[in-house]
Order: sequence, then C-alpha cells, then structure tokens
Amino acid sequence: MSEQLRESGGAVPDQHSDGRETGAPVVELRDLAAVVGGRRVWSDVNLTVRAGEFVAVLGPNGAGKSTLLKAVLGLVPTAAGTASVLGTRPGRRNTRIGYLPQRRAFDPATRVRGVDIVRLGWDGDRWGVPLPAWVPGSRSRAAAQRVDEVVELVGASAYARRPIGQCSGGEQQRLLIAQALVRRPALLVLDEPLDSLDVTNQAAVSRLIRDVSHSENVAVLLVAHDVNPLMSYLDQVIYLARGGAVMGPPEQVITADTLSMLYGTPIDVLTDRTGRLVVVGQPDAPAEHRAPGSRA
Ligand SMILES: Nc1ncnc2c1ncn2[C@@H]1O[C@H](COP(=O)(O)OP(=O)(O)OP(=O)(O)O)[C@@H](O)[C@H]1O
Ligand SMILES: [Mg+2]
Repeated sequence: MSEQLRESGGAVPDQHSDGRETGAPVVELRDLAAVVGGRRVWSDVNLTVRAGEFVAVLGPNGAGKSTLLKAVLGLVPTAAGTASVLGTRPGRRNTRIGYLPQRRAFDPATRVRGVDIVRLGWDGDRWGVPLPAWVPGSRSRAAAQRVDEVVELVGASAYARRPIGQCSGGEQQRLLIAQALVRRPALLVLDEPLDSLDVTNQAAVSRLIRDVSHSENVAVLLVAHDVNPLMSYLDQVIYLARGGAVMGPPEQVITADTLSMLYGTPIDVLTDRTGRLVVVGQPDAPAEHRAPGSRA
C-alpha cells in the first residue's frame, strides 16, 4: 500500500506554510521497493525531500525506517522503482551527505576526543573516501575552524575536548550530529538522533536540526520514534508500516483515518492536554509514540 497525501511528483507549491520557498528535489523515490535478507521490507514507497525541507521517517520497529535511509545512501539493493539522490543514483554523491547511523555508543574506554570524532566527518573517513590532500584546506586550519564552528553550533564546546567515551549518551549524540554537519552537506540522513536525549534536549536538537535545514538549505531525512518533539518543525513525514508508506504533512498523516488505512486495522490518534499525539492500537508496535520519559 502506498499513498502520497501531497503529490510531489506533480505541481509543486511555491512556498511552505511558513512562507519559505520550496527547494529543488534532493531525494526522489518513486514506487521504490527494498529487499533485505531476501525479504521485501517495503514496496511502492514514494518520497520527495527538497532542499531546506525537514522530513521525518516514522513507523514501528522493523517497518524498514533504517532500510529507507540505507536505500537513499545506496547501501541496500532496491527491487523495483526508481531512486534519485542529489541528481544521480543513490551512493554516488555520499560525500555530500551527512549520515548518522542508528545505535552509536562508544566504549567508556575510548580515548579519542569529541573534536577528533567531528574531524573524521571532515576527512571523509566514515565513507572510506578521505579527501585527497591536494583539496585546498582539507588538512588545514580551515578544517579545525569548521570543526570548532559545528561543535559550537550543536552546543558541545564544553565537552568536545574530553575523550568521547567519557561523554554522556546525549553529549555523544550532539558530537555525532556535529560530525554529520561538518562538511556542509546538502543532505542530512539521521537515524534516531533523538535517541538517548532527555525531553528538553530532544526539543533543542529538533530545533537545531530545523534551523540548520532552513538556514543552510539542507534537506533532512530523520528517523524518529516519537514525533512529538519534532511536530512543530517538520515539513513532511513518511510513515512506514506493514510494507507500505504514507507521506504528507504530519497533521494529515498522523490521523486515525490515514493510519487505520495504512495498518489495515482501526488505529486511534489521541491528543493529550499538552497537545501531544498518542497513537494507539498499532498491532505490532505497542511501544510506539510512548509517553515522554518512558523507554521502549
Ligand atoms: N541484514 C539483514 N538481514 C536480514 N534482515 C534484515 C537485515 N537488516 C534488517 N533486516 C530486517 O529488515 C526489516 C527492517 O529493518 P529496519 O532496520 O529497516 O527497521 P526499522 O524500522 O529501522 O526498525 P527499528 O525501529 O527497530 O530501528 C526488519 O524486519 C529487519 O529484521
Ligand atoms: Mg532502525
């Protein structure tokens, strides 16, 4: 099952609801299907992410959210459909993508400092394609300056020179977001970057990512388990479940009607007194959109 509430392949609105102009498409997936371990994880996925747009990938455990990010990065084979990322096929422009994989934790004994982890993003070692030494500034003070700049941007200056193994989970998270940002990517691909952050920091990091997206015209594709901290910052969401997907503005996708159609079973979307959305009734994801502070 696939549905696109905003038809991004057709006429494109000139502006977002906040008055920003929509940018050029950075990610375009059309009727895409992915196969992992010989099994089709999802089919008929349609997704457009434009420059300066902030899009969340939602859905229960195992729905294929990480697989979707890996498809965008060219790391998993696609079985049907077409995919274009930064104007070419996935995998070819990965040096212009800042990627934060899921579940990162450093051993407490790790001696490498936070700033050195951020610097790895500049050197490109994460992709196995270091910048050649002749690229101006690749080994220079410019790199150190940019590292300091992004460390400050994510609010990590106080601990960036400590061994990363001695930083808290949330501090490590901010340093890894800095690493993803250091090369001024055109596309940020973040797999559960709010994981291990407390509620205050979830809100702060959501806002930071939105600010970077808007001010630097970066397209952002971010996997989250709880949409609430992101809700006011998102342009679109794509909700994956039961091998299908629905994409559109969050207030149109996260509704009882849309999610019931996607899951093929009655789903309720409740709003609590503070305006938080609670999705209830998912057959295979009782812990989704859990209450703040509780862990799955
Ligand atoms: N290397 C692999 N071999 C076989 N199956 C895999 C492999 N990697 C992932 N899968 C399966 O593909 C499906 C989608 O996995 P994926 O990691 O994309 O889900 P997810 O939505 O990111 O879940 P989570 O919320 O738990 O991170 C799952 O059923 C998973 O078991
Ligand atoms: Mg995942």
